[in-house]
Amino acid sequence: MKVYAHRGYSAKYPENTLAAFKACANLPIDGVEFDVHLTKDQHVVVIHDESINRTSNGEGVVKDFTLQELRAFDYGAWFGKEFEGEKIPTLSEVLEIFRGTKIRVNIEIKSDIFRYPGLEELVLQEVEAFQMTDQVVISSFDHEAVARIATFAPNVENAALFANAILEIEEYQKKIPAKALHVSLPSAFRRPIAKAIELGSTVRVYTVNEEEHAAHLLNTGVEAIFTDEVEKMLAFLEKHFSLEQIRKREHI
Ligand code: G3P
Ligand code: CA
Repeated sequence: MKVYAHRGYSAKYPENTLAAFKACANLPIDGVEFDVHLTKDQHVVVIHDESINRTSNGEGVVKDFTLQELRAFDYGAWFGKEFEGEKIPTLSEVLEIFRGTKIRVNIEIKSDIFRYPGLEELVLQEVEAFQMTDQVVISSFDHEAVARIATFAPNVENAALFANAILEIEEYQKKIPAKALHVSLPSAFRRPIAKAIELGSTVRVYTVNEEEHAAHLLNTGVEAIFTDEVEKMLAFLEKHFSLEQIRKREHI
């Protein structure tokens, strides 16, 4: 079972900041996940919520600010004084950290509330400019966005996000079409997901922060977990499997 750092190393660092990404880039993770939105002046920025209220000292909605305006706020101090001065990262800044590493990069397009016309194309352009098309997975709860990725870049791995398991999910996956399914922890234990795995779907599960939950997932055929608790989950896997097995991923 592979380990993806969720929003960077978000248990110990302010989520979706360069500090969180740099911290997880130095750990033996398989992947990293983060969220993107579009600014008023068409820059792709990395932040989870539509608004900056929860994770900065500012107030307002990302799409109503220019990048320069968003950069004026602090995205680290809310988490801890030592992180004061963190700026909102652009997609390019985050790709730069992981380019040339073996870490898979999962870009989640957060267009499920605001549509952000053109966001998929901008994301793909940046990924191509960094020559990282083989290194990324582009996912969304907005399955129209997932479908657009399949149309614009059929070779790029795309993934449909689900909060709940739906019946015949593997058939729906083919219709989008999506190469992978990213599902919530409770839905990972539902019959439609087990069936999709049996039929060959790649399934990754969010957000797994407890050893007990990771243990239950070990023999389900799930390919990876997204976790805020990166070192805790890496240690859990090392406790159960030899480093050699983990390196070769024989324990999947
Ligand atoms: O991509 C997996 C997971 O991050 C989806 O949920 O709300 O953390 O973006 P959320
Ligand atoms: Ca996410």
